[in-house]
Amino acid sequence: MSKVLIIYGSSTGNTESIAQKIGELIAAAGHEADVKNAADVNADNLTEGYDATLFGCSAWGEEELEMQDDFLPLFEAFDKAGLSGHKVAAFASGDQAYPHFCGAVDAIEERAKELGATVIAEGLKMEGDASNDPGAVSAFAQDIIKNL
Ligand SMILES: Cc1cc2nc3c(=O)[nH]c(=O)nc-3n(C[C@H](O)[C@H](O)[C@H](O)COP(=O)(O)O)c2cc1C
Repeated sequence: MSKVLIIYGSSTGNTESIAQKIGELIAAAGHEADVKNAADVNADNLTEGYDATLFGCSAWGEEELEMQDDFLPLFEAFDKAGLSGHKVAAFASGDQAYPHFCGAVDAIEERAKELGATVIAEGLKMEGDASNDPGAVSAFAQDIIKNL
């Protein structure tokens, strides 16, 4: 059994619903999943005791990428989170009408890799909440479970 931390930053609940669904799927596969709001966590040694961490964050910029408000302080302190040698993956809800569709996914993956993390699944980028594309959420969760 692995222990997975799932952290989300979500303003209207879309990315939160994806986080909850991924948590349910990971738990259903026999692992432990802790789902937490980015507003309630501190970067210091965040990943300690976990085998993998999944980060979900929506984007709110127009021209430039702006990370969701609660997630930004965590992202800026990623170097304190213990990501070196840690398994990570990223997900988001977004809107294809914006130039950086689910841009936080790419930014999280890039920064995590810089810090020595291993990205264990292709980032999940989708519109709406988890119910909008259950197949995509399930495929992402299965990818994670396979690589734990
Ligand atoms: C002002 C504004 C800027 C936005 N910028 C982006 C963006 O850069 N990329 C994107 O994919 N979606 C963008 N969106 C759409 C939201 O990220 C999208 O509605 C998302 O589902 C919200 O997820 P949340 O409820 O988890 O916060 C933007 C929406 C608004 C109103």
